[in-house]
Amino acid sequence: MEFKFGPYRLRPFRRGDEPSIVENINDRKVERYTLNIPYPYTLEGARGWVDFNRKLERSKERTQLNLAIDLDGAVIGGIGLSAMNGHRAEIGYWLGVKYWGRGIVSGAVKTLTRYAFNELKLRRVYGKVFVVNKASARVLQKAGYKYEGRLVKDAVKHGRPVDGLLFAKTR
Ligand SMILES: CC(C)(COP(=O)(O)OP(=O)(O)OC[C@H]1O[C@@H](n2cnc3c(N)ncnc32)[C@H](O)[C@@H]1OP(=O)(O)O)[C@@H](O)C(=O)NCCC(=O)NCCS
Repeated sequence: MEFKFGPYRLRPFRRGDEPSIVENINDRKVERYTLNIPYPYTLEGARGWVDFNRKLERSKERTQLNLAIDLDGAVIGGIGLSAMNGHRAEIGYWLGVKYWGRGIVSGAVKTLTRYAFNELKLRRVYGKVFVVNKASARVLQKAGYKYEGRLVKDAVKHGRPVDGLLFAKTR
């Protein structure tokens, strides 16, 4: 599985990705707006992530699909569908800070959403963003996701409950 958009590709994680994953993900600016990315993010953590996804690829019952955002062979970000359950899934993503603001994740979200509808035959893909995460909300809106409402105390971040904003695209 591989998708091209501009000079970027979405492709499965593979052995050897660990150093570029760590180089781009190990940043408080990435950690602070996400729920499942630790800081510091170690090489061992990256190894675990790559192995987890390699095993997942071989399993039949898939509830997640995680892809690397690749530029010239390096992993500069990640995007995935999780909680895949019948007709719907949740979309999530991150990008190395030095690549922000070039439209990369907007392109990735559009590409993966198209695949979710056309190939996976999903009917609903949703994304949840922290209220303060304006860039992520904008990414979803640019990809045609509609605002559905505020999720009060939906997540706990750094020990505190925080509100989320729910966006979804359906077909
Ligand atoms: C959110 C994130 C994925 C965006 O990636 P990106 O490739 O920089 O996004 P894009 O360039 O495609 O689009 C960003 C949009 O947000 C806008 N934006 C950026 N910062 C903003 C801010 N503070 N307020 C309002 N809009 C903002 C940009 O102008 C752009 O919109 P435009 O094209 O209309 O100008 C990236 O910042 C990131 O990895 N953040 C940390 C992890 C994260 O938040 N993950 C998502 C969790 S829900």
